[in-house]
Amino acid sequence: MFSTFLLCQIIITLICQTLCYEPTEKDLKCFNDYEREMKCSFESDGLISCSGYKLSITRNEADVLKEYTCIFERSHHSPSCECKIEVQGFSTSEIFTTTLLEGTNILLNENFTTHDFIKPKTPVLSVQKTENGNFNVTWDDKYTSYSTGHFVESLEIHLSYRIKGEDETFSKKVSNSVGFFEIVGTILQPNTDYILTARMSTNYNEHKILSDQSAPVEFTSPSSPNDIVRTVLRDIIKIPRLFKHIYISFFE
Ligand SMILES: *[C@@H]1O[C@H](CO)[C@@H](O)[C@H](O)[C@H]1NC(C)=O
Ligand SMILES: *[C@@H]1O[C@H](CO)[C@@H](O)[C@H](O)[C@H]1NC(C)=O
Repeated sequence: MFSTFLLCQIIITLICQTLCYEPTEKDLKCFNDYEREMKCSFESDGLISCSGYKLSITRNEADVLKEYTCIFERSHHSPSCECKIEVQGFSTSEIFTTTLLEGTNILLNENFTTHDFIKPKTPVLSVQKTENGNFNVTWDDKYTSYSTGHFVESLEIHLSYRIKGEDETFSKKVSNSVGFFEIVGTILQPNTDYILTARMSTNYNEHKILSDQSAPVEFTSPSSPNDIVRTVLRDIIKIPRLFKHIYISFFE
């Protein structure tokens, strides 16, 4: 009798661990892009329906309280529920008061101060080969003229490049206002495919939140000078067999 009761308890506890899941304070994550968007999410394993949850957001804008309702939806790229709202710009030390609700049931309250939760937009990279065999990396920070110039200058880009198919990564941080970074061709392995990605951060929160990673771009390093000489000689000059032998033994 007693053991049946105990068994029931254990089973109920196990079922509840998966079904009676409720998000807690540490689960709710919010980010703003310091332009127009605030996005929140909490992890969930797919058993719950995200649309049963909503986040009520209040901001105090020049002493006028503005309220927003953020309805959660299942994320397409991670096991979580996500919601987002559009706002008319941000200011650094403003407080967003949030309440997470399941139906009408209050699960938690949390306050977010704008500068603490800025996650910059994902940059878009491009690479151009220069005349002297280097690679000029430029990017679009995706902020429009609407954003304040001051914020755009607070951004830093974290560039990472590596040989395609290898793990070892070379990194470089560049201030967004510099606008480009030149990768010197001669430090690269000759005639090799490289992959470059980037993330952005801001000194408004001491660079502690990185943007999502940009789409990768690829570039191919130049052939070594020796390779070029060989190719030129082989392709352009039609060397008679005899001379070709001499040429090859000379270069190799
Ligand atoms: C959030 O801020 C409001 C006023 O700005 C305050 O009344 C409330 O206690 C704060 N809540 C939390 C959870 O810190
Ligand atoms: C890289 O490209 C940018 C934008 O086109 C340009 O302003 C900059 O001078 C270029 N840098 C080099 C080293 O070529």
